[in-house]
Amino acid sequence: MNITDSVALVSGANRGMGRVYVSELLNRGAARVYAVCRDPRTLDPAHSGDERVVPVSLDITDAHGVAMAAANASDVSLLINNAGSSFIEPVVSGELDRVRREFETHVFGTLNMVRAFAPVLAANGGGAILTMLSALSWVDYYGLGSYTAAKTALWGLNTAIRHELAAQRTQVVGLHVGATDTDMTAGYEIPKVAPEEVVAAALDGVAAGSLEVLFGTEAEEAKKALARTPEQLYPGSVPGTWS
Ligand SMILES: NC(=O)c1ccc[n+]([C@@H]2O[C@H](COP(=O)([O-])OP(=O)(O)OC[C@H]3O[C@@H](n4cnc5c(N)ncnc54)[C@H](OP(=O)(O)O)[C@@H]3O)[C@@H](O)[C@H]2O)c1
Repeated sequence: MNITDSVALVSGANRGMGRVYVSELLNRGAARVYAVCRDPRTLDPAHSGDERVVPVSLDITDAHGVAMAAANASDVSLLINNAGSSFIEPVVSGELDRVRREFETHVFGTLNMVRAFAPVLAANGGGAILTMLSALSWVDYYGLGSYTAAKTALWGLNTAIRHELAAQRTQVVGLHVGATDTDMTAGYEIPKVAPEEVVAAALDGVAAGSLEVLFGTEAEEAKKALARTPEQLYPGSVPGTWS
């Protein structure tokens, strides 16, 4: 789809990759960008001062609020599901409430957005949905359980959404990337890619009609890992390995 003159909505627009999405959409000539965040006072002042940006106060886990937002943003043709949590809780031994909230955000929060905006996109010719998946949709690292499981579930959800919305001509894109330099990875001393590069690749993919965008070697390696057995990929998870 054409980004120029599009009307986009970005969740988690106040920081991290969401903030970069808003900047890049404006750079590429979007006509309007709805900037969804839980507290609009935290929007980048350069964005809240731009007449093309419409701040929207919304928690994506609030289905009623999401439905109201969709009713008020009936011109959206590009939905960017960027908002995401990082409770990073072990799924068996960790706090169940935090595991549940990870799924509520990534899976059911994103589904709230898609269910509310699918008729809006249909009315505007089909449009596109871009969802932030991860290299961790395809591989797990010990201890990251709630996050990797939620991102894997979101990958499956995105595939089902793509199937169901094909008839209304909606392009459903999944973006997979590894560690990216935002607040989410602030505590990790690991190689990280720049959010500006990720966002540029994602929007290039949307513009090119892609359904899946992989950015960086971490995402590419993760996709190859799908073909490996659990014994090859996770030798430490074989029973008896740990004493
Ligand atoms: N950083 C990485 O390494 C990486 C890699 C692959 C994929 N991703 C994915 O890319 C997306 C953006 O990540 P990021 O690194 O930019 O994260 P971030 O810097 O931690 O920002 C997360 C954003 O999501 C918002 N958010 C969280 N829960 C929300 C909710 N229930 N309703 C509305 N907004 C909510 C946050 O709002 P508040 O400011 O109100 O908290 C914030 O704006 C996420 O989906 C993440 O899983 C990140």
